[in-house]
Amino acid sequence: TGRRVRALRGRTLDFTGNPFEQAAADCFSSEPDGLVIIEDGRITATGPWNELRHAVPEDVPVETYPDCILSAGFIDCHVHYPQLGMIAAHGEQLLEWLEKYTFPTEAKFHDRAHADAAARLFMRELLRAGTTTAAVYCTVHVQSVEAFFEEASRYDACMIAGQSLMDRNAPTAMLQTAQQAHDDCVALIGRWHRRGRQLYAVTPRFAPSSTEALLEVCGTLLRDHDGLYMQTHIAESRAEVEWVSRLFPTRANYLDTYAHAGLVGPRAMLGHGIHLDEPELCTCHATGAALAHCPTSNLFLGSGLFRLFDALDPDRPVRVGLGTDIGAGTSLSQLRTMGEAYKVAALQGSRLGAIQAYWLATLGAARALYLDDRLGRLAPGYAADIVVLDPGATPLLQARMALCESLEERLFVLMTLGDERAVRATYVAGRRVYDRESARQFTYA
Ligand code: GUN
Ligand code: ZN
Repeated sequence: TGRRVRALRGRTLDFTGNPFEQAAADCFSSEPDGLVIIEDGRITATGPWNELRHAVPEDVPVETYPDCILSAGFIDCHVHYPQLGMIAAHGEQLLEWLEKYTFPTEAKFHDRAHADAAARLFMRELLRAGTTTAAVYCTVHVQSVEAFFEEASRYDACMIAGQSLMDRNAPTAMLQTAQQAHDDCVALIGRWHRRGRQLYAVTPRFAPSSTEALLEVCGTLLRDHDGLYMQTHIAESRAEVEWVSRLFPTRANYLDTYAHAGLVGPRAMLGHGIHLDEPELCTCHATGAALAHCPTSNLFLGSGLFRLFDALDPDRPVRVGLGTDIGAGTSLSQLRTMGEAYKVAALQGSRLGAIQAYWLATLGAARALYLDDRLGRLAPGYAADIVVLDPGATPLLQARMALCESLEERLFVLMTLGDERAVRATYVAGRRVYDRESARQFTYA
């Protein structure tokens, strides 16, 4: 009694290896007519429909998605939920963009009702894009964090989030003292870290808006609490990197402003990292810190081209995931993000393969977040966080897909032409929370 069993039928796609270390063909498996059996929010079996159909209890209806691909849900390693309303703000590069658009937008989150509405829209748009886990920046306001975690909990989605901390170089109303930051975070960690599937991230916005005292507080929080995340920005634009060298003259490099305070290690997610040098990449590799590659943001703000294959160099691979970085980024879709990552690599003479791209958006991201024991695969024991992709979502996609000869080719066309329209449904913890075809579309857990 009470066992919640579900069965999904469609083409399955699962990752079994790292396509930046091995041949792509050896890194995934796909069942053209596959079945996924779910019990109490977890996948218990996957395999060919013909072999596994008898394992489905008689009273359990099979949810069938003909011509669709069942994959682990996408993971967004870097996104600002309060910035969804200021996406597509014209004309500025990073530092001016923050002053002109970002800070005024985030200031509105002192109002809990505003934060609630924004969190609700953000979660819906995330699920509409097939993203089931994200590392999320809130604002400096405690209410913004409460609003987000409450909304994520309604879907029972595994989310990583935290209060954005600043104690200099931002409007006064958005600044805190290091002590206030500490006390707010202790309370938020107590309320939300590991409550259900929620995880807390200590979130100093970036070095220019932090004093050493604030970064020290972040280090203290990480030492005092088990399993916390740390997220921040690093080396996104040249002007920012120069500013940091002036603000922290005694630090060896940008990464050292964080490392010195004890912020760089496993479960650290550093956004961008476009202008990191070789010693900094080596430190990321050695410490287990990860980078979030945010191509739509980097192109939109003109920040530069992330050297993905350099970061992933097999001699000292850095953990990397993809981030949408809304609102500097221009889409919440990981398909669009993969497509832009391909172009950023192309501009540097490299070729990002489709299997590599989908791995980055699923299992690679889970590895970067140290969640690859439970997220990022369509396999027994993994969370039933699943995206149902529809490769024939539009007439153009249908026409183009008809000319594809392999799954890899179809996945490449999908990441180049696809977006939210290509997400047929999204499952979180075994429940269908988004259904493109139903009138209501969204369902809370
Ligand atoms: N650096 C510091 N804050 C931000 C932000 O909100 N967005 C981006 N893209 N970079 C940042
Ligand atoms: Zn960001």
